[in-house]
Amino acid sequence: MTEKLQKARDYEALHRPEVKSQLPAYHLTGGVGWINDPNGFAPYKGEYHLFFQYYPYDTQWGPMHWGHAKTKDFIRWEFLPAALAPDAEYDKDGCFSGGAVEMPDGRQLLLYTGVEIRPEGEFQTQCVAIGDGVNYEKCEGNPVITAESLPEGSSTRDFRDPKIWRENDTYYAVTVNRGKDGSGDVLLYESEDGLRWQRASILYSCGHRYGTMWECPDLFHLDGKDVLVHSVMEMRAKTLEYHNGNCKMYHIGHMDEEKCFHAEVSHAMENGIDFYAPQTLEALDGRRILIGWMQAWEGAKQKIPGMGFMGQMTVPRELTLRDGRLLQMPVRELEAYRANKVAYKDITIQEETSLPGISGKVLDMILEITPTETLYSRFTLDINKGGGFQTSITLFPQKGTILLDRSFSGFPHDVNHIREFPADFHDGKIRLRLLLDRYSAELFVGDGEQAASMVLYPPKNADGITFRADAPVRVSIEKYDLEIRDNWRAAQ
Ligand code: FRU
Repeated sequence: MTEKLQKARDYEALHRPEVKSQLPAYHLTGGVGWINDPNGFAPYKGEYHLFFQYYPYDTQWGPMHWGHAKTKDFIRWEFLPAALAPDAEYDKDGCFSGGAVEMPDGRQLLLYTGVEIRPEGEFQTQCVAIGDGVNYEKCEGNPVITAESLPEGSSTRDFRDPKIWRENDTYYAVTVNRGKDGSGDVLLYESEDGLRWQRASILYSCGHRYGTMWECPDLFHLDGKDVLVHSVMEMRAKTLEYHNGNCKMYHIGHMDEEKCFHAEVSHAMENGIDFYAPQTLEALDGRRILIGWMQAWEGAKQKIPGMGFMGQMTVPRELTLRDGRLLQMPVRELEAYRANKVAYKDITIQEETSLPGISGKVLDMILEITPTETLYSRFTLDINKGGGFQTSITLFPQKGTILLDRSFSGFPHDVNHIREFPADFHDGKIRLRLLLDRYSAELFVGDGEQAASMVLYPPKNADGITFRADAPVRVSIEKYDLEIRDNWRAAQ
C-alpha cells in the first residue's frame, strides 16, 4: 500500500466521530471530510458497495480519493477503508469518478478517471484498479483508455466518469467527453477483459442543447426501454423544469444497431436544490436502484460551522418507467425501520396547526391532501421548526407547482434557498412522501413522478412540524419515526 493511501486510511479511522448522532441517521456521508459523486455503486459478493469522491482531510474538495462503504439493504452502511488515493503518475491530481463491477473470477474491478496536470495542460484518462472488496491494486497497463480512442477534435482534458457494467460476457463503459463542438458527448466503450478497451460509438451528443460539458453518464435497460442519465454543466434555466447551473437529466429511448442512442423523451431528473451525479445499479432481485450526491456544487463551497463532514448521498431510490416518465421512490427496505406510527385521517386544516405526535427530524411521513369545496391556492408544510427556524414546502395546485424554501434552515451563507418546480396534482389532490434526516429532506410526489431533495442545517431542537392553508383542506397523515441503530460501523 502506498503512503498516501495509508495516510488517508489512518486519518479516517482516527477522525470519524465516535458519536454517530453527529452524522445523518441513514444518509451516507464520508463520516469525515468531503464527499461528492457516488462511484462504483454495484453489487459485489452479495452485498452492495458504494465508493465516493472523497477528500478526508477537509470539508472542502481537494485531491480526489475514493472513499468506500457497503450495505446489505441500502439503509445500514458499514465504512470500509479508503480504496484509492491519487498516488500514481497518471492520477496524481485526482482519482475522479467511475464505476465498479464484479469480475467472473470473483475480483472487483474499478474503472475510474485519472487526472494528471502536466506543464502542457490537464489530461484525463481512464484507469483500472482490481481488488477483493477492500484492497485494490492499480493495473500496470494504466491508463487503459487514453485520448487516442477519442473522436477527432475532442478535448483530452474533459474526458471522464466511466460507468462500467457487464452484459453477455462483455464489459461496457460509458464516459463523457467534450466533443469538437465544445459540448458534451457520451461515448460507449467495450472490452473483453476490462483491460483492453475499444470505443464502440459516440452514443449521444449534446450539440449545445443541454448546457455545455456533461458529467457522470449512466446507461441501463428499464421496463423495455434504454435510459441514459447524465449530469449537465452550465444549464440555462428553461421553464420551471431546468434551473441554471449543474442539472441532471434522463433520456428515455433506444439504442440502434450502430450503438447510437435515440432519445424519445428527455427530462430533468430531480426537482430539488441538492442533487447531482447520480449512479445506478441492478439489485440482486432485478430492481434498478439510483443514488445521487445530495448536494449542489454551488452550495457545497461553504463551510458549515461545527460540521466535520460535507456532502451526503440521497436515500437509494427504486426506478420505474410510466407514461414516458422516470419514477423514483425510496427503496422499500427503508420501511423495515419504521416505528411509532401516528396517523390522522381526513382532518380539516386551515389555520396553522400542529398535531400531537407529528414532529421530529428522522422520519418517514405520507400526506394526502384533498381540497374541500373551494380549491385552496396554497398549502404549506413547515418542517424543522423552532427558535426562528423553519423549512417550508408549499403546494400551489392552481399553478401546478411546489415551492421549497429553506431560507430559515440554519445556513451560514446566502446560497440558493428557493426552488419551485412543476408537480402533478389531480384536481388539487396530491400525495406526498417526505423523508427527513438530521441534515436533509427528500420529497416524493405521487408514485415518484417528482422527487426533490435539499440539505438543511437546522439546530438540533428545531423539530416542529406545522400545516397551514388559505382555505380548508382535508389532510390524511401517516408518520413513522425511522429507527436505524448501529449505522456507520467500520466493517470488520
Ligand atoms: C461531478 C464531477 C465529475 C468528476 C468529479 C470530480 O461532480 O465534476 O465529473 O469526476 O466530480 O470530483
